[in-house]
Amino acid sequence: MMQTHMDYIRTLVDSGGPKPDQYDDLNQWFQLIGEKSRTKAITQDQLTEMWSAFGDAFSTNTMQGFVVNKPHGYAGDFEIIDKIYTKWLSPTKHLENWDRFFHWQKASIAVRNRKAYFKSLLSEVDNSEVENPLILNVGSGPCRDIFEYQEEEPSTKIKFECIDMDSRAIEYSKTILSGENVEHFCLNAFKFRPNKEYDLVWSAGLFDYLDDKQFVFLLRSLLDSVATGGELVVGNFSEKNPSRDYMEFGGWFLHHRTEEKLTQLAQKADGDNYVITIDREPSGVNLFLRITKP
Ligand SMILES: C[S@@+](CC[C@H](N)C(=O)[O-])C[C@H]1O[C@@H](n2cnc3c(N)ncnc32)[C@H](O)[C@@H]1O
Repeated sequence: MMQTHMDYIRTLVDSGGPKPDQYDDLNQWFQLIGEKSRTKAITQDQLTEMWSAFGDAFSTNTMQGFVVNKPHGYAGDFEIIDKIYTKWLSPTKHLENWDRFFHWQKASIAVRNRKAYFKSLLSEVDNSEVENPLILNVGSGPCRDIFEYQEEEPSTKIKFECIDMDSRAIEYSKTILSGENVEHFCLNAFKFRPNKEYDLVWSAGLFDYLDDKQFVFLLRSLLDSVATGGELVVGNFSEKNPSRDYMEFGGWFLHHRTEEKLTQLAQKADGDNYVITIDREPSGVNLFLRITKP
């Protein structure tokens, strides 16, 4: 059985990577492997053995290889996220098809859509009556979203404060941003003690790495920093994620949550005093818990 699986991948590798008419089959293959791994029909060692069939399609020269190798030491780092935003393609020509497959994934589309969603929130703030809007971005990563917004809306009044615990993420984001109206703080969000209030507190790609206890703790602490009339908006991947098995095959695990679960966690974090709604981007893979402070 292992041989059949390895042969399937090797054939794709030898033919120069998957073509668009093979994407659905390949995604279903990852889903099958995911199912077998969950039911223990395939062990973790066998799964890792399968990686070898990918050869250099699993090197850091590809999107999926970057996920597998985690050169920054953890999944979902600033660099892979920015590569998703910019639809990065491998400089090694025969590996490009693997990156196209990666960017076709619903999860990649959802990440790009959440950038658009954040920009639409920024636009709402800019068009509101708030005079000097201040926004806190928690787990800010590459800041591609802020960069694009400032480019698209040069007259924006928004000032940003960004928190990230990875100093390399901050250095990287500074190479993208112009440096105007964005202040960075290299610290763990769990240690953040706000001494001011923000009109919008935004966090995407962070809460889906937290278990329920950590989720509620951080939500509660960030709610304290939201100004009256302001909002806390938190992104979290939905359980409806067709890319989940592909991600988990490469060791990228998230806490996927339903709308009900997100609402429940918000209520646990003192949500009774707030207005709670759930938004989603067009693919439905990335949900947004939106908490308004009346
Ligand atoms: C998946 S990236 C998302 C980046 C950005 N929010 C986006 O959507 O483009 C997650 C970022 O959160 C940062 N991060 C993870 N845990 C954190 C924590 N406890 N405190 C501060 N930053 C954290 C990581 O260093 C990484 O840059």
